[in-house]
Amino acid sequence: MQSDIERVLFDGPAIHKRLDEMAAQITADYSDRELTVIAILTGSLMFMSDLLRRIPLPLKLDCLSVVSYHGKTQPSGEVIFKQLAVPDVADRDVLILDDILDTGHTLAAVRKKLETAKPRSIRICVLLSKRKQRARDVDADYIGFEIDDEFVVGYGLDFMERYRNLPYVGVLRKELLEQPNQ
Ligand code: IMP
Ligand code: MG
Repeated sequence: MQSDIERVLFDGPAIHKRLDEMAAQITADYSDRELTVIAILTGSLMFMSDLLRRIPLPLKLDCLSVVSYHGKTQPSGEVIFKQLAVPDVADRDVLILDDILDTGHTLAAVRKKLETAKPRSIRICVLLSKRKQRARDVDADYIGFEIDDEFVVGYGLDFMERYRNLPYVGVLRKELLEQPNQ
């Protein structure tokens, strides 16, 4: 698995140090409110679990499962929700967590869906944000790291459902992305 990685961008200690800072910021911002965290599965699993354990506030946690990539590296633009029900976030202060902001399709669709449940506020928190022109107008309020427009895996992020368990974020070797089916 390690030999498939072209280079490591953020190792475990670097990620954890940044999570300390993000958690402190979120804790300060929501100290007088009760957070409802909506985590987007599966990519945000490691990020969610490490970040939330650093936030000593009362909060509720729910997860949404969406498919936006269909196992390929190019987004289709179509976002499919695996649950039919919208989480009950009426009058709640919602923080959406996702692994990475790329084209913006996923987070724009999730935000739109949650808005139908009339929350008090919605903010977006991502571990990674790609520096690029997005297809959808969506910005994150909390960003772990800005990265170049390259395909990365590890710490929850996958390529065809693999590499999620790497304890760091790294760039996948380009030739692996080009293989049709593995
Ligand atoms: P978007 O809808 O294009 O913003 O992409 C969001 C989703 O695509 C993320 O939640 C990831 O699951 C996936 N994704 C985007 N870029 C990458 C990447 O570089 N590596 C792995 N997954 C990615
Ligand atoms: Mg994902």
